[in-house]
Amino acid sequence: MTIYLASNNAHKVGEIMSSVALLGLKLRFEDARSIGGMPEVDEDGLTLRDNALIKARALAARAAGRWICADDTGLFVDALGGAPGVHTARYAGMGAGSAANNAKLLSALAGLPAAERGAEFRCCLCLFGPAGDASYFEGVFRGRIAESLCGSGGFGYDPLFIPEGYEVTVAELPSDLKNRISHRALAVAALGRALE
Ligand code: IMP
Repeated sequence: MTIYLASNNAHKVGEIMSSVALLGLKLRFEDARSIGGMPEVDEDGLTLRDNALIKARALAARAAGRWICADDTGLFVDALGGAPGVHTARYAGMGAGSAANNAKLLSALAGLPAAERGAEFRCCLCLFGPAGDASYFEGVFRGRIAESLCGSGGFGYDPLFIPEGYEVTVAELPSDLKNRISHRALAVAALGRALE
């Protein structure tokens, strides 16, 4: 069974494939490009689940009869009452890139000590079957927000996220380590367990 990934984000696709290999899961994922590509969608759901389902359905509409998997991820910062949460991609405005999002997050937390900078990534994977049924698998990655950007690995908010038990950001960790322990790796592992 091949599962097509409803994403245009090459980082996410690469990480999911890497987690499958590193965790020894018997899952076969393929890029949406092999079935015509992922259409643009409005991610206007109220939850990560809603947005993951919106993405999965959009690709399913192009590829009837296939298994589809979509990823929606959010960064939930304790001191901001869980923001940016479901708005993580557009925290600094629609179309904002990672540099603007990271700068906004740093200024929102300016002056807060490490103990008050707790946060977590939550990844929700939606597995959408040929019969139109959806199941969800989630992974949570606890850590804290650094006081400045560090590292060049990963993507998005990785240069600002220090995982619990580490003193460096995800962008400073080897990618294989991220792909074993991250929110996305945990969600992929849950999906793998359920299918096995
Ligand atoms: P979405 O799931 O594609 O909507 O992404 C939400 C936001 O979180 C985007 O700004 C991504 O760059 C960011 N993001 C998603 N996954 C990760 C990750 O693994 N590390 C850091 N940032 C991420």
